[in-house]
Amino acid sequence: SAAEKGGYEHFMQKEMYEQPKAVTDTLNPRLKGSRIEIEELGMTDEEIRAVRKIFIVACGSAYHTGVTAKYVFEGLARIPVEVDLASEFRYRDPILEEGTLVIIVSQSGETADSLAALREAKARGCRVLGIVNVVGSSIAREADNVMYTWAGPEIAVATTKAYSTQLIAEYLLALKFAHVRGRINDEELAGYIRDLQLLPQQIEMLLNNKEKIQKFANRYIAAKDVFFIGRGIDYAISLEGSLKLKEISYIHSEAYAAGELKHGTISLIEEGTLVAAVLTQEDLYKKMISNMVEVKTRGAFILAVTNADNVEVEKSADYVIYIPKNNKYFTNSLAVIPLQLFGYYVAIGKGCDVDKPRNLAKSVTVE
Ligand code: G6P
Repeated sequence: SAAEKGGYEHFMQKEMYEQPKAVTDTLNPRLKGSRIEIEELGMTDEEIRAVRKIFIVACGSAYHTGVTAKYVFEGLARIPVEVDLASEFRYRDPILEEGTLVIIVSQSGETADSLAALREAKARGCRVLGIVNVVGSSIAREADNVMYTWAGPEIAVATTKAYSTQLIAEYLLALKFAHVRGRINDEELAGYIRDLQLLPQQIEMLLNNKEKIQKFANRYIAAKDVFFIGRGIDYAISLEGSLKLKEISYIHSEAYAAGELKHGTISLIEEGTLVAAVLTQEDLYKKMISNMVEVKTRGAFILAVTNADNVEVEKSADYVIYIPKNNKYFTNSLAVIPLQLFGYYVAIGKGCDVDKPRNLAKSVTVE
């Protein structure tokens, strides 16, 4: 009903606008001054130091947050991370050695494949941590430990706020592990925490600048294919941007690691094909620009999503969306906002049922 939507047109829209609060609610209970305390992790510092490998296992968008988390964990804590789709992990006889921590990420806590992966990992003697949104759900109950995301109920099939809070939980874990394992000192940790605390207001700012994206989206309601490209963390954002667009607008889209373009996607570029290029990683700007030029010379129209200070990009892109400056590890939380808005506005422009896209379910409890 209209009342349930709190004045918004769709649940997806309402939930996008709830992101600043959801992020704050997930972040704040774990911050103690300039320290991170995750009591529910149930691990002593010694146990954290004994972890030799992490598996992040999930489905859909939750899996995409795992792809981001791999870069963050490996970059900050220097622990090898493997990210796996739950439906693959459970059947591939994964190598789970002593010292392996398995993290299952799930909004609903009921996804059949994720639950089966959890059971497999436990049966094989691994410690399992759940990152779950629904309190008391199956994954929350069966995991050894559970870290809740405090996004509140999510109704729209396409996840937005749960996704954003999953990222926060993963950043907190990566920072905690990095600090305990001596990879970052107290001062560095305090700096990262300050950056995390900037996120809610920066997300809010991006949500309030929706007109620019709405106008742009209206030009693409008849698009046949859209490509999303990025490198590193920006590749992970591209995966999510592409999924958001295709699941609700039914426009075919693909995410490609930008360096991989010339091994495939580039043959699909035609005059006017939209390519969304995400470039938030300063050390990869140059590489990204050269990939953008590659597609532009084949006729692509380029939408760039980049950091506020990267005005240089205007030379190679046709349309630019800036995100406020934050730490390089946390840019996904910002860059995803314009991509969510883009998918949303393309879908409503086409008259699609954004909250209940055809053939999809909010929670997939069957195989
Ligand atoms: C479904 C939803 C997705 C979600 C995925 C995993 O496919 O439509 O939005 O990412 O399931 O769900 P979970 O509840 O485990 O996060």
